[in-house]
Amino acid sequence: MLSTHPVETQNSGRQYLPQTHSNSTLSPNQELLPITAKINQRDRLEIGGCDVAELVEKFGSPLYVVDEATLRTTCRQYRDTLNRCYPGQSQVLYASKAWNCLAIAAIVHSEGLGIDVVSGGELYTAVQAGIPGDKIYLHGNNKSVEELELAIASSCTIVVDNWLELKNLAEIVNSSQRIMLRFTPGIECHTHEYIRTGHLDSKFGFDPHQLDEVLEFISQHPVLELIGFHAHIGSQIFELQPHQDLAGVVVQWLGKAAAKGLPVRELNIGGGLGIRYTESDDPPSIAEWVQNVSQAIVNACTIQHQPLPKLLCEPGRSLIGTACITAYTIGSSKTIPEIRTYIAVDGGMSDNPRPITYQSIYRAVVANRMSAPATETVTVAGKHCESGDVLIKNAQLPKTVPGDILAVLATGAYNYSMASNYNRLPKPAAVLVQDGEANLILQRETYQDLIRQDCLPERLR
Ligand code: LLP
Repeated sequence: MLSTHPVETQNSGRQYLPQTHSNSTLSPNQELLPITAKINQRDRLEIGGCDVAELVEKFGSPLYVVDEATLRTTCRQYRDTLNRCYPGQSQVLYASKAWNCLAIAAIVHSEGLGIDVVSGGELYTAVQAGIPGDKIYLHGNNKSVEELELAIASSCTIVVDNWLELKNLAEIVNSSQRIMLRFTPGIECHTHEYIRTGHLDSKFGFDPHQLDEVLEFISQHPVLELIGFHAHIGSQIFELQPHQDLAGVVVQWLGKAAAKGLPVRELNIGGGLGIRYTESDDPPSIAEWVQNVSQAIVNACTIQHQPLPKLLCEPGRSLIGTACITAYTIGSSKTIPEIRTYIAVDGGMSDNPRPITYQSIYRAVVANRMSAPATETVTVAGKHCESGDVLIKNAQLPKTVPGDILAVLATGAYNYSMASNYNRLPKPAAVLVQDGEANLILQRETYQDLIRQDCLPERLR
């Protein structure tokens, strides 16, 4: 197993190098690089046995490189720890909003995970990837009737978010439909405002004061088979306490349903575990998170005299985030004396909108010269017509030349899934690497793809 904690401090002028260490319990979400990362004899970054610079030669640039071993390891850590630590039934779902495509959905399914989807498009992808309906959970705060019908036809569980949806369902469901209810648990956590969802002022879920009324409605509509409750408190969370607090809240809902004669059997406590994007990020391991959450549910059930529910969780970022790097080719540069040096790459905010959206900080290495000392402080800019299109401010990198390959680390979560075609940049390709083999999982978009949906009315021709 490899560690990506900086070999020495940043000031010592070293890049963030993979390093062999003996602590096999380290969880991928605590690493900067995928677990198979190493430096090969040509002094280049290798992932899944593939030389990243060679991948770029073969598949083009920019390129998402996804390490299958890292993804499978995170899936297994969640699944196995939950099986070991939680005495009742359990199921891990992959929050596919982090990155939904056929190959990734198929991998998580093959590891025994179910999947959480939030739109007709994500649902369609999951079904096409071969995931059976009983392993698919549909979320969303404004599902259309069409999306609800697709979920019903695919035999998914629907996580009902609000009154309109509940009433629509009561009208369109003919035979029994499995539903869960999403409530806002009223739990604060320290993360970016946009990715916090559990506090009361949130657009997601019923407000807790509506619980009795909602349960009453469901008890009068027996086609709606209420199997459980759902809550999610936010994303990129490093604290364990909010999830422990959440357990106490969701178990109370079980008690209220039981009092109404509704035997609710499942609790979904959402996702949210953070990952390491920089050497100062220190998230708990997947195992610690699962152990804490499991114990908190067991304790809450004991205190509140409730039978143990089936426990579901739905991580996204911590499953896929560390598994991917984005490889770019370095192009132009600009030095403004005594202010800064920009180096530009051939992608940017279209393939990674997180820095401009959330001021997220990333780390990068020069993948074709891994042991070159990081002697420069440069700002890595994208190629979009937007001053804010900066991927990394003040990155510590070796001196670079046009054509060098820059690998930005931990780009698996919410990069491709939030990618755009701003400035009509085609979206990059993605390859899955394992044991020296690389397989395309997303083709690079072409200029033809960019105009595929364009229509030119006859009178404009
Ligand atoms: N379940 C629900 C209902 C969610 O809303 C989310 C994330 C998850 C699970 C998965 O959370 P995770 O384990 O990935 O933290 N675009 C933002 C993140 C938005 C998260 C939205 N919901 C970002 O790039 O940071």
